[in-house]
Amino acid sequence: MSQSNPMQKPKVVFEGVSKRFQKGKESLHVLNDINLTVHDGEFVCLLGPSGCGKSTLLNIAGGFESPDSGRVMIDGEEVDGPNSRRVFVFQEYGIFPWASVWDNVALGLRDLDQAERSEVVQRTIDMVGLTGFEKSFPMELSGGMKQRVEVARALAVSPDVIYMDEPFGALDSLTRLTMRSEIIRIWEQEKKTILFVTHDVDESIQLADRVVVLSARPGEISEIVEVDMDHPRDLGSPEYGKIKNRLYQLLGVSHTI
Ligand SMILES: Nc1ncnc2c1ncn2[C@@H]1O[C@H](COP(=O)(O)OP(=O)(O)OP(=O)(O)O)[C@@H](O)[C@H]1O
Ligand SMILES: [Mg+2]
Repeated sequence: MSQSNPMQKPKVVFEGVSKRFQKGKESLHVLNDINLTVHDGEFVCLLGPSGCGKSTLLNIAGGFESPDSGRVMIDGEEVDGPNSRRVFVFQEYGIFPWASVWDNVALGLRDLDQAERSEVVQRTIDMVGLTGFEKSFPMELSGGMKQRVEVARALAVSPDVIYMDEPFGALDSLTRLTMRSEIIRIWEQEKKTILFVTHDVDESIQLADRVVVLSARPGEISEIVEVDMDHPRDLGSPEYGKIKNRLYQLLGVSHTI
């Protein structure tokens, strides 16, 4: 996907977003003039060093923080507060430990009647591969399974946009790989718009249509790198290696030790 394709519908648009935090007497300049269009159905990764403002940018896009200047539009409407129907914020520890898998997924669906709710809950649990674990509680599940519950919660409420802030950071590397391919499978099936924060170069290349590279604080977009590769992606291909080199270069680090 490319930003210049006129056929693509803008979904989330950042217009000149800047943000400072007051830290005692000091003012911390976190984000500077972020301009970005995320298209409908696109998978965009935000990649940048720790502290560059990635989470702050997602919080602004979710309506949890307000920018000092600029604005974020979703479907042409300015974001001015959290709206759970429009945006689902995927949290690493977002599931409720006291509720079963079924209830965790059902909790966001109180508006539906019982038959419809049951149908949606079962369908999303099946989709994320947790069939048979409906009655289990989080403490009985592995880390990867808990993440699947979180994915199911996100999909069940059928939001237009899903924000994910390093959702797989706490998982071991094999489970992380599995979760990445699962999220791609589901994204291809459901055609959601996903904005995904990571500081893992490989993760961004494996997932994104475009990788937005942010500079160190104040976070500015240093470059947007397109990943023009079909899924499943060949991690050993020259194209993959080329993108990886470019991203490391942009982050200013060497990846040879
Ligand atoms: N509510 C807040 N009040 C004051 N300072 C904040 C607040 N939220 C974030 N900051 C500061 O803003 C900077 C950017 O934080 P942010 O969490 O957005 O970075 P990040 O890119 O997500 O980092 P990481 O990769 O470590 O998660 C940090 O220096 C942080 O201390
Ligand atoms: Mg963060």
